[in-house]
Amino acid sequence: MSESVIEKVDSEGIVRLTINRPKALNALNSDVLSALETHLTELENQTNLRAVLITGAGEKSFVAGADITEMRDKTPEEARAFASQALRTIQRLETLPVPVVALVNGFCLGGGCELALACDWAVASDNAVFGQPEVLLGVIPGFGGTQRLPRRVGPAMAIDLVTTGRKIDAKEALRIGLVNRVMPQAELESYVEELTQQLKGNGPQSVRGAKQAVHDGMDQDLDSALALETSLFALCFAGEEQKEGMSAFIEKRKANF
Ligand code: CAA
Repeated sequence: MSESVIEKVDSEGIVRLTINRPKALNALNSDVLSALETHLTELENQTNLRAVLITGAGEKSFVAGADITEMRDKTPEEARAFASQALRTIQRLETLPVPVVALVNGFCLGGGCELALACDWAVASDNAVFGQPEVLLGVIPGFGGTQRLPRRVGPAMAIDLVTTGRKIDAKEALRIGLVNRVMPQAELESYVEELTQQLKGNGPQSVRGAKQAVHDGMDQDLDSALALETSLFALCFAGEEQKEGMSAFIEKRKANF
């Protein structure tokens, strides 16, 4: 398999995917997208999967966008195929049944920002830079930015970012709700450790159910979404996890999921 995406798996189902083109600031070309899709297709069916972390190689960049060199000479049909490949891959990431966390360790521009937007949450280093600079290149965001960005930060801020192409720092990204946390780059790894320990301690099926309820419910009207939540809540009582979790509370011990 191509080395453009590196997968590291721990024994307890935490998978880290590293986009590995540091010389091009991890820009997304067809090779990276294919490799990413292959990894994600395999992960979709992994029953012991607990969480996925995605980051960029090196200390400078998460992903600096779609690969401009590869895009420059594309015809409209080729551009459509490239965007479709990226959208399909990014959607695979978004719909993984477990939490997906973007570790944004630097530039997070264009397609990189669009990739981060498909993650359940994003943690950024304080040197991270965000933006949708496509209009500076004579195009619009093509990997979901015009749709996921307004859903994350609201239409006014999304239109600001996609029409000016301006870059924002991690502090502003935090303020507008584009990322969940900002910290010094040197602390990203200890945060990951803390986060994965927390996730490993929780009921794996309930974590999956909670993600499913939020994701599927967002696309429905409130009444239907609440009915979905009730069904998923009731389903928890069909499994061992609920028995163990509630018994552990009553017996004043730590749950063993
Ligand atoms: N595509 C291809 N190569 C890229 C790239 C990209 N998106 N971003 C950076 N690189 C390459 C550079 O060409 C350079 O390669 P060489 O060493 O071979 O010249 C290398 O990565 C290092 O980059 P810089 O020398 O430019 O580094 P810098 O620190 O001076 O600047 C930067 C960093 C501000 C991120 C700058 O590289 C930059 O502006 N990159 C482009 C960002 C961008 O416009 N992204 C959006 C792309 S379009 C898109 O994503 C469309 C979509 O929605 C689908």
